[in-house]
Amino acid sequence: MRLWGGRFSGTTDERVADFTRSIEVDRELALDDLTGSIAHVRGLGRAGLLTVDEVSRLLAGLEGLRADVEAGRLEWDPALEDVHLNLEAALGVRVGPLAGKLHTGRSRNDQVATDLRLWLRRAIDRLDVAIIGMERALVGLAEREGEAILPGTTHIQPAQPVLFAHHLLAYVEMLERDRGRLADARRRANVSPLGAGALAGAGYPLDREATAAELGFEGVTANSLDAVSDRDFVVEALAAIALSMVHLSRLAEEITWWSNPRFGFVRAADAFSTGSSMMPNKKNPDPAELVRGRAARVIGSLAGLLALLKGLPLAYQRDLQEDKPPLFEAVATLEASLVVMAGMVETLTVDRARMRAAAAEGYTTATAVADALVCRGVPFRTAHHVVGSLVAAAEAAGLPLDAVTDAMIAAALGASGDPAAAALAGTAGLADELRAAAGLEGALASCDVIGGTAPTRVRAALAAARARLEGERG
Ligand code: ARG
Repeated sequence: MRLWGGRFSGTTDERVADFTRSIEVDRELALDDLTGSIAHVRGLGRAGLLTVDEVSRLLAGLEGLRADVEAGRLEWDPALEDVHLNLEAALGVRVGPLAGKLHTGRSRNDQVATDLRLWLRRAIDRLDVAIIGMERALVGLAEREGEAILPGTTHIQPAQPVLFAHHLLAYVEMLERDRGRLADARRRANVSPLGAGALAGAGYPLDREATAAELGFEGVTANSLDAVSDRDFVVEALAAIALSMVHLSRLAEEITWWSNPRFGFVRAADAFSTGSSMMPNKKNPDPAELVRGRAARVIGSLAGLLALLKGLPLAYQRDLQEDKPPLFEAVATLEASLVVMAGMVETLTVDRARMRAAAAEGYTTATAVADALVCRGVPFRTAHHVVGSLVAAAEAAGLPLDAVTDAMIAAALGASGDPAAAALAGTAGLADELRAAAGLEGALASCDVIGGTAPTRVRAALAAARARLEGERG
């Protein structure tokens, strides 16, 4: 029997029933639906709409259903359309006609909005733990490979050397912002729509605030129309999730390049790689590639959800049923991606020698040499030009920048056209000073500002990240 069947004659066309049902998807909400119903029953009791005995029988029935759902014992009936009607019917089997009082002062519209907020709250808490796990993996690798030097790039070309730990900590920053965005989304999701009814507000004197408090909500929605049709909280969460996937995807991209033998900076563990069915030589970083690929799907989910909402008049429209697949898929995808990427990062082997050699290629310390000249009073533009010509001379001579001769330095200064620079040529100690700045260690040490890659700064940032993570859950 259809729970809403009174005004209908005949049966629903099979094609319509198939097309409209959502039980395969929204059964994911079962536990939250029961949590919401339990609080609602207590609220109906407080409002004098149920006797003490009725409340306790309904609660016993709902608790029994919770145990069934947790044990995977509940049989979902596709003929019953969705999770709400399935659970109400199952309650009827347990407590008889009394189950018909459960839906007093409630619509599936405020019910599903409540369920989704409760579900999202739990999901965000799980994601937070998974993000912390990923941060721990990155910090662990940064600690393990604290000395490794990476060729920092811009335009994918060699730019300046950076500590590998510094590079990893950049991802920790991104993930930490992701946590902040999710926490922010959680805060706005954490209000109770229960009592909004179908759209106009429940027709009974329900104490919405008491029920909200019982459910751990921070408050109640202020407008019943908004309460049943608002999915901003889903958009916000999905946007935060999509951005977090983008962050993981960027790291995944880097890992795939770094593990190409041409780079040879890292090697993925065998346990985190897969092979080719045809090429016996292959070892592929597939988990990273799939993280990159799944980021695309999550971005699509976010775009789909925004498109879903843009044409909806107030209040509830059935279109809103389509909010769940993208949200559920995005949460599951981010959680799984974080877990697999954490494992990949934890088991990564780093070839410091390869990294170091690459970091020295491409005259990456030139900026540090120019900065050293500036410290001797040379205007930066002149210094830039002098070091540029020094790089050209070194390249022609097949020398690295930290092996240029005194004569090459004097020539570059002399040719600058700047009397102040020309006057420096031959200054005692200057050539050694510039060659020291041209070494990887010298160049790294020179970036000694908050947020810079100087080893002392990176050590402090790493220690701060570690200390923060010690205090986190999970
Ligand atoms: N399955 C519906 C959804 O997810 C539940 C609410 C249905 N409300 C209704 N009036 N048909 O949105």
